Amino acid sequence: MRVVVTGASSGIGRAFCELILSSRTEAKVLGVGRNEAKLNELKLKYGGRFDYVVADLSIIGEIRRVVDEVKRCLGSVDVLVNNAGFGTYKDVLNHSDDDVLGLVGVNFVAPYVLVRDLVGCMGRGSVIVNVLTAGIYVLMVELSMYGASKLALYYVTEVLRRRLKDRGITVVSVFPGVVSTEFHRRAGLRGISGGVPAEVVARAILKAVEERREEVFIPKYLKVLKVVGPKLIPWYGFKLSKTQHHD
Ligand SMILES: NC(=O)c1ccc[n+]([C@@H]2O[C@H](COP(=O)([O-])OP(=O)(O)OC[C@H]3O[C@@H](n4cnc5c(N)ncnc54)[C@H](OP(=O)(O)O)[C@@H]3O)[C@@H](O)[C@H]2O)c1
Repeated sequence: MRVVVTGASSGIGRAFCELILSSRTEAKVLGVGRNEAKLNELKLKYGGRFDYVVADLSIIGEIRRVVDEVKRCLGSVDVLVNNAGFGTYKDVLNHSDDDVLGLVGVNFVAPYVLVRDLVGCMGRGSVIVNVLTAGIYVLMVELSMYGASKLALYYVTEVLRRRLKDRGITVVSVFPGVVSTEFHRRAGLRGISGGVPAEVVARAILKAVEERREEVFIPKYLKVLKVVGPKLIPWYGFKLSKTQHHD
């Protein structure tokens, strides 16, 4: 089983790599991220079964280089996990050009280009996983541009699923709620309390891959959002902890 995981250096992506490498001894994983030290830790731990590409997925030339490296290193792909992503807690009017281009680049352009350019290396029975967010079903006022980029990915994911069905390729949408990773600190908060551990999300993704499920909500009860939404009801999230924002 040949697996590509973006955002393999941290959080959900790293937990997924660890899970699949420890539970599926035939798995060979190619991880993508910017933090080479973290990626190299996995390489040292799993030897020849894990390799990595250091790339900044906000840059189109780097995304194309990842495509080339995947073809060179793996040849074919059985599971593509588009997990890399980030957010920015900011007022909707305060996003710089670079903020917008970066968010759209990593959260939308990169997964789309990877699917478009790697699907030719994927045969019947293979699986594409796009990590979205349950937040697309509410209006994430403080994470507006992040929400917009994930909503764009959601839309394309729905079309891709229908487009690739005849080729026998399953497209899985993953909708996590709050997960206790570096995400929120990187997005501008000093941290959050609570949230589901990344390992729980990783297990849910692997189960969805094995069972060829088309969508998975973590925790499961968040599926209710599908029934009531997407109505884009304002969600102020961590507004109470606004004092925690970095200056
Ligand atoms: N945490 C949550 O509450 C939550 C909720 C819903 C959905 N999600 C989604 O889950 C996914 C994983 O996030 P996480 O919670 O595991 O956060 P995380 O611990 O911050 O991990 C994010 C990963 O994305 C990679 N990444 C970010 N920007 C990148 C760039 N420009 N180029 C290449 N790689 C980049 C990071 O790699 P490097 O640092 O090495 O570049 C890192 O491996 C994201 O798509 C996120 O939107 C998270």
